[in-house]
Amino acid sequence: MTEHFLLKLQKLNRFYIKIFFIISGVILLLFSWNIYNEIAHKKKSVLEHAKNSFIKDLMFRKWFSNHGGVYVFPTQKTPPNPYLSHVKNRDLFTTDGHSLTLMNPAYALRQLMNDYEGMYGAKGHITSLNLLNPKSKATPWETKVLKMFEKENRIEFHEFLETDNKEYLYYMKALITKQSCLKCHAHQGYEVGDIRGGISITIPMQKYNDDTNHTIKNIIIVFSILYMIAFFGLFYTYKTIKASIKEQEKLYEENLRKEEIMLVQSRNAAMGEMISMIAHQWRQPISIIAMWANNIIADVDMDELNERDCKKYSTNIIEQTKHLSDTIDDFRNFFRPDKAKENILLKDVMEECLTVITKSLENNNIKVKTDYKNSTKILIHSRELMQVYINIVKNAKEALVERKIKDAHILINIYEDENNIISEIKDNALGIDTEIMKKIFDPYFTTKGVKNGTGLGLYMSKTIVEKHLNGMISAKNIENGVCFKITLPKE
Ligand code: HEC
Repeated sequence: MTEHFLLKLQKLNRFYIKIFFIISGVILLLFSWNIYNEIAHKKKSVLEHAKNSFIKDLMFRKWFSNHGGVYVFPTQKTPPNPYLSHVKNRDLFTTDGHSLTLMNPAYALRQLMNDYEGMYGAKGHITSLNLLNPKSKATPWETKVLKMFEKENRIEFHEFLETDNKEYLYYMKALITKQSCLKCHAHQGYEVGDIRGGISITIPMQKYNDDTNHTIKNIIIVFSILYMIAFFGLFYTYKTIKASIKEQEKLYEENLRKEEIMLVQSRNAAMGEMISMIAHQWRQPISIIAMWANNIIADVDMDELNERDCKKYSTNIIEQTKHLSDTIDDFRNFFRPDKAKENILLKDVMEECLTVITKSLENNNIKVKTDYKNSTKILIHSRELMQVYINIVKNAKEALVERKIKDAHILINIYEDENNIISEIKDNALGIDTEIMKKIFDPYFTTKGVKNGTGLGLYMSKTIVEKHLNGMISAKNIENGVCFKITLPKE
């Protein structure tokens, strides 16, 4: 796997890990919120239950109290209340001789609470810190709450507590002394508004807890399924995306390979062109050398060789060999294997390009005018750029020769703006047909026939400029010719 692919994969992985945590977080949050709500709802319901229970007791008491107590037939279970002995008319007799006894609210309520305890799911207890009836003694919890009522001016309190490993709601509300209470409680020193005592309601949480646990179980199941769906959904999309990235990567690598092959092809083609240029430039000096050598042979044949002539011929031959080696020097840079990037002025690259190609331009009577207005060096592979320059200049030359342009010339401008260095190469070879112009950068496109070009020159130039040098290359028709423009970023 290439680095390119691993990088993409890493990005994908990181993205999915993030998404995974976000989704997990959201689901967990929703889950906790649901559970929290469920528990809060449970507590609210029990409390509601306790309050209702209290109100029921209160209503019952109020009704009793407002009647100043109620007379009933005394039975074994309901004997006359000894704590009412100070009340006048506690016991009455009907006209036909049956006895009646007065029941006070607390008496009746206690009986009700004891007889029907559990029917309402709640256990009530009426009590006070200042008891008339010692049977109604407050539990430690009730004592604590009643004391708190007296101290803190509160009349209601509840608490969830565990007793014998079972959870209960303990609820208590104060009973305030009213006018109607004074009939029987005034002798204890109460005044209207005093807290006379309270009713506590105890509700076992078992049923509520069972209900809630059941609901929570369902919530857990639903959320597990939700989480699983989310997880598998994520997993599935991850797999799919990964597969498609792999597919893309294959294509990408294939393209890369193709491009490499083309690069080699175009290098080879450029090399071939260079060699033919060298051959061209060598032709003249070689024939001159041959001529002087012939002269030597002729002189020897005729026995006319003298020291002076010999020296002259040799000097001339040496002079020509210097031409040969100069030519090689000119081209050496181009044949040099790729070297590291260098910080270089584009002007210098262009000058080197012109050295290589200038002979062939001179031979065809093409003038070159240069105008350099650039002082910023950039870090590039200069040989690659040189290949591009040579390619464009050579194309211009070929067009000028083919169309037999009089006063043929090539104008070269290199200048810079804020961010870029721009090289323009213009000719006056009458321009390119617009239909052809569209395709000049396509691979294997050539107008020159198989013999003269591979059709890779401009395609490779574009590849080099855009992919290797991060720049742009374009061509447009101008007056009388074509302008190629290469824009390279300064950084
Ligand atoms: C008809 C007389 C009568 C009236 C009216 C009456 N009570 Fe009582 N109350 C009693 C008697 C007697 C007891 C104690 C005996 C018992 O538990 O039955 C008692 C007990 C209580 C208790 C239980 C604690 C203890 O001292 O034993 C509270 C609390 C209480 N009364 C509050 C009130 C309030 C508040 C009112 C007014 C809304 C009221 N009572 C009206 C006669 C009365």
